[in-house]
Amino acid sequence: MGMTPESATAVAHPNFALSKYWGKRPGPGNFPAVPSLSVTVAGMSTRTMVRFSDELGADELVLNGVPTHGEPLRRVGLLLDRVRSLGAEKRRACVVTSNDFPTASGLASSASGFAALALGATQAARLELTLSQVSDLARRSSASAARSLFGGFVELPAGPEIPDADAELSARPLAPATHLDLRILVCVTSEEEKGTGSTLGMRTTAERSPYYGAWLDAAPRLHGALREALLARDFQRIGELAEASAMAMHASALAAGIVYFRGATLDVLAEVRALRRRGVPAYATVDAGPHVKVLVPTPDVDAARRALGAISGVLRLIEARVGEGASVVAREGACAS
Ligand code: DP6
Repeated sequence: MGMTPESATAVAHPNFALSKYWGKRPGPGNFPAVPSLSVTVAGMSTRTMVRFSDELGADELVLNGVPTHGEPLRRVGLLLDRVRSLGAEKRRACVVTSNDFPTASGLASSASGFAALALGATQAARLELTLSQVSDLARRSSASAARSLFGGFVELPAGPEIPDADAELSARPLAPATHLDLRILVCVTSEEEKGTGSTLGMRTTAERSPYYGAWLDAAPRLHGALREALLARDFQRIGELAEASAMAMHASALAAGIVYFRGATLDVLAEVRALRRRGVPAYATVDAGPHVKVLVPTPDVDAARRALGAISGVLRLIEARVGEGASVVAREGACAS
């Protein structure tokens, strides 16, 4: 290996959970307390270049063109440390990453970000891992990122009940992108960074919510039913269960004082119900931010766009299709510098 810098560039897409991951197993290892099921989206992406080099005294991070320190660099460094512990590459790395959608606003930038980083870093370090092992690596940084390695409809099981930091837990594909003819309308209600990150939001929910136990009880049942509905391609049932999972997650968080909804969020949720009364099968899901993702069958997308786009609090609409998993787009050896 010697003195030559080695680099790789990977692209990954966000995923939106239909059945939500909210809450971790106690103990080490970042294991989810509940199973989750997501859809990987096309049309939004994170692109990450990782380059190991002798010339660096410390890991570096450039996020959307800006050299970044503090917590984001610390989390990137922890993933790079794991990569360095797995193989012969021991040098520091420079990570250059950018999103073509707002960062840290509940649009799942940590999912696509850590998926692209895990794939780019393991490729740059010339590790020969399966996609499942890369998913496990991404999961240790951000559990939702484990799902973005795969395309289509993806499941991440709950972690082991007995804490074991070394246990492997990866996401797995359930159905390909072509399984269901679906569009997701992302109703962007704010361009600011979100208030409470999901890691802190779930910790606070676990510590303070009187309904956290009820969430842990309900989530696996909602997940199992959603999985069945998905495999049966029952769109209405998928939508109802996805909305139920999101509302149960937010109910548990709200009871701990963790509020992601804003006025515009509620306006979109009301319009989604109004669409259903008018016969348009639209269903909503909300993550750890104020935006609403609306699921709609492809033939109904124009009707849904018109109604949602007319809401004053909706700054813009992003129309996403079901997309593919993460991929390596470039790899350079000896002559990179
Ligand atoms: C609401 O994966 O961001 O989007 O593992 O602590 O990094 P960490 O949490 P993260 O949580 C995502 C929460 C969610 C629901 C989901 O994606 O399943």
